[in-house]
Amino acid sequence: MIVAANLKTNLTRKETREYVNAVENFALTNSLTQDIFVFPATSSLDTFETKVTVGAQNAYAVQNGAFTGEIGLDHLDEFGIKTILIGHSERRHILGETQELIAQKFNYFKELGFTIIYCVGEPLEKREAGTERMMEYIDAQYEGIDTNYEKLIIAYEPVWAIGTGLTPTNEDIVAIHTELKKKSLSPLLYGGSVKVNNAQEIMALENVDGVLVGSAALKVEDFCQMVTFAEELDKLV
Ligand code: 13P
Repeated sequence: MIVAANLKTNLTRKETREYVNAVENFALTNSLTQDIFVFPATSSLDTFETKVTVGAQNAYAVQNGAFTGEIGLDHLDEFGIKTILIGHSERRHILGETQELIAQKFNYFKELGFTIIYCVGEPLEKREAGTERMMEYIDAQYEGIDTNYEKLIIAYEPVWAIGTGLTPTNEDIVAIHTELKKKSLSPLLYGGSVKVNNAQEIMALENVDGVLVGSAALKVEDFCQMVTFAEELDKLV
C-alpha cells in the first residue's frame, strides 16, 4: 500500500523536518513496511535522511531559467528529490495549469526517471452531468500521459471531495477505480477528504492501492495511524 501526505501550503521547513522525523520514527519503531510519501511545501524541501520518500508538490519542466516563482530540476537535485506530484486539481483549477502544460511536465520528469504521482479527478458539475460526461472529462486528463510509465502512480481525487469532508460512496470509488485501472495498471490511490475514520475502509476497497491525504495528514499522529491501517490491510492479503 502507498500512503502519501500532501502538506500543500502548510508547515515551515522546521515543522516539516519535525514531521518527517516523526513519521520516520513511527515507521521504524513499528517496523512498518508501507511506501510512505510526504510532499512538503517548496520552501520546506531539504535533504532528508529517511526511508520516507520526500517529493515535490510542483516544479517547472526546466533545469533552471527565467520562470519567476517556479523551481526547476537544479532545485530538486540539490536535495536528491526524485519524486513529484503532477496534475493536482489545485494546480489545474486554482493556478490554471492546462493539460498541455501538465503533459509537458510529465514528460520532462518521466525522461529523468522521476516517480510521478499523477492526479486526476472531476469537479462536481462533471459528476452531476452523468457517468459518461464525467469519464470523458477524466479521459482528457490522460492526454499526453504515458500510462505505462513504470514509475507512475495515479491518484484519483474528485475535486468536490478535496478539503470538503465529502467523499464518494464506497461503491462509486470502486466503480471509478475499476474504470481507471483499465487505462493504467499503475498503483491507484484515492484522495479527497481521507481521514482517520474512513481511511481503513477506503484502503480496503477493490482497486484502491493507497491514499493521498491532505488536511488530515497535517496531524502527524493521524497520518501515522493511516500508515498503520495500510500495514494491517497488507497483512490480511
Ligand atoms: P484533503 O485530504 O484535504 O481533502 O486533500 C486531498 C488532496 O488534495 C491530496 O492531494
